[in-house]
Amino acid sequence: MIHTRLILLLVFISNFTARADEGMWMPLMLEKYTLAQMQAKGFRLSADDVYSINQASLKDAVVIFGRGCTGEVVSDQGLVLTNHHCGLDVVQSHSSPATDYLANGFWAMNRQEELINPGLSVTFLKRMEDVTQQVLANISDTLTEERRQSLIDKNIAAIKAKTMEASSQYKADIKPYFYGNQYFLHIYEVFEDVRLVGAPPAAIGKFGGDTDNWMWPRHTGDFCVFRIYANANNQPATYSPDNIPYRPAKHFDISLNGVQPDDFTMVFGFPGNTYQYVPSYHIAMLKNDIYPLLIDIRKQKLDIIKQWMGTSRDIRIKYTAKDATIANTWKRWIGETRGLEKLNTIAIKQAHEQAFTAWAQTGSNAAYTKLLPAYEKLYADYTPFRLAENYLMEMIWRNGMEVVDWAGNCSKYIELINAHTPDTAALSAEKQRLTLLAHEFYKDYHAPLDQQLTTALLTAYRHNLPEQFQPTIYPIINKYHKGNIAAYVNQLFSQSHFTSEASFIKLLNHKPSKVANLIDNDPARQLFQSFYNVYANHVYPSLKQLNSELNQLNRQYMAAQMAFEPNKNFYPDANFTLRVAYGNVQGYHAADAVTYNHLSTIEGIIEKEDTTIFDYQVPPRLKALYQQKDFGNYGINQTLPVCFVATNHTTGGNSGSPVLNAHGQLIGINFDRAWEGVMSDLMFNPQQSRNIAVDIRYVLWVIDKYAGAGYLINEMNIIKN
Ligand code: ARG
Ligand code: GLU
Repeated sequence: MIHTRLILLLVFISNFTARADEGMWMPLMLEKYTLAQMQAKGFRLSADDVYSINQASLKDAVVIFGRGCTGEVVSDQGLVLTNHHCGLDVVQSHSSPATDYLANGFWAMNRQEELINPGLSVTFLKRMEDVTQQVLANISDTLTEERRQSLIDKNIAAIKAKTMEASSQYKADIKPYFYGNQYFLHIYEVFEDVRLVGAPPAAIGKFGGDTDNWMWPRHTGDFCVFRIYANANNQPATYSPDNIPYRPAKHFDISLNGVQPDDFTMVFGFPGNTYQYVPSYHIAMLKNDIYPLLIDIRKQKLDIIKQWMGTSRDIRIKYTAKDATIANTWKRWIGETRGLEKLNTIAIKQAHEQAFTAWAQTGSNAAYTKLLPAYEKLYADYTPFRLAENYLMEMIWRNGMEVVDWAGNCSKYIELINAHTPDTAALSAEKQRLTLLAHEFYKDYHAPLDQQLTTALLTAYRHNLPEQFQPTIYPIINKYHKGNIAAYVNQLFSQSHFTSEASFIKLLNHKPSKVANLIDNDPARQLFQSFYNVYANHVYPSLKQLNSELNQLNRQYMAAQMAFEPNKNFYPDANFTLRVAYGNVQGYHAADAVTYNHLSTIEGIIEKEDTTIFDYQVPPRLKALYQQKDFGNYGINQTLPVCFVATNHTTGGNSGSPVLNAHGQLIGINFDRAWEGVMSDLMFNPQQSRNIAVDIRYVLWVIDKYAGAGYLINEMNIIKN
């Protein structure tokens, strides 16, 4: 009795939470599904203002920045804003001890000073279209999963080819939605001449660093400025000095009116991945079986790296980016785990599943009753393999044993050497590639750190992974080193050719047949090979099979959940396509006796300053402007707004997204989420899930007052009433 009541309560909660601000909506479907709720919350524009293919609309001012971020166009001269952490690689690539733009910031004071960035692109969505019928035209329910996928791939290729015939200047992309229950075609225009215009110093753009990452209150000026260039016809072109600033169909107006609690906001961008419709088994797998081990292994990595970073400036510089990458996801996993626990996510999912099952047992839905038992069985098989895959990634490819990862890069070279008829051109090209890569690799490498890391990782793997995933290296360690991993690693580091650039280049300069032999017998390469074999021969083939079963179940369960709740507004999981999230500016209750405001100000930067902590250095010029209260047009109540939080449902990929007000004007740039709510990738918590944006007034103040690049502000359309 109590049990049923609890279930009813939980179902009620889950239905309730599904309504409040949750969702990443397709702009194409705004009118049908979302607009009424948005307008009820205060939105003043029409669906056509947001997305239209007949007239310029807001979507024409939103871009994919690089490979994984969002950006927004803010002038009729192709000026683009995104996050500092999205432009970090670019800024770093122009930096050297003599021009340390990372530390000092960079500002072009005219067009000639802007910096060229080979490989960087900005992508506009021209239009999108439902192609479900064409993609699934000849697909019947009786096909095997493999056959089904290969037919779908063929259909997709055909639709793309046909699309490209009509508009060859564009790029076509077709992606599944709702686990393959729907498919949409996206037509993109890609610009490849994108120049760096400005970036604040790291002490502004990354203020708070990993200490504050994923947390509110925040005081980070996480933005930088680029410009898109086009040819004389305003079309995409590779870099040329003759290119001219792109004249966009649309650019955002910028509002200086600021944010008040409960103001309407929307985030318009490219969220990467979410998992809203997975069964409880999936959450349990992550929370109980996978995250704890991944959190532990990353903690070990971070401890070792931090300890070495503290010993010298040189090592600090070498490992700053790696440390940030490892720490970012590590911290998110911890937040997610706590949030899932606090929200009772597994119990809510289970209650949903019981209600679903009860429904499936009635009427003509009997086929659906098989889904959850099938999931249960599948997750039992899947979990160890998923863990092994993740753990192997941590061992090698995701900032794991560095020299072992590096030794793995030589596979192609060895293949070329061992080919029947050696292709000398390809061989020398590959040698050239490895030489360049080596330079990059060793520039940021410290062997004693890696040796300690390798010992720790090998120890953890032996301890944490079951017998079936143990590579052949451990019996060797047992035999020749009495099981002493440190002794084995010590020998590896004293014998391997891969531990310094000099010895690696020397190795490459032997004649090819000798090189192959030396590499094959190198202990770092052998260690790589022993782990790689586990992955390639055992984990990968099993996962391929299991994933295909999982895909099928996911597709069926998704359709079944939609049948179960025919009146619910479903939004598709994020898949790095353009989405609208909407909500309100709002602080939150974080923990017992802790409630946060919606807005942070420059006072907090001054309060956080600590000259002994790397993440809390404040640039002297910022302090001087603060003391003069020189906030120009951008301040309010004698201070300067810096960041704010709102209830928009966002995820990775939304970095750099425009945060807009009720009139579609830019009020901030999205860059993070608050820690208490990051489980929103799996289940949104309206009480605590918050996106974090840098207030546009702070951005403009830094450009104008701090950097003295006011000419950029003159390009923008600024609104203040
Ligand atoms: N947490 C943000 C994101 O997921 C920012 C990451 C970059 N900042 C950092 N301190 N590592 O991308
Ligand atoms: N910082 C994230 C990104 O790079 C956005 C934060 C989030 O995951 O919401 O996309």
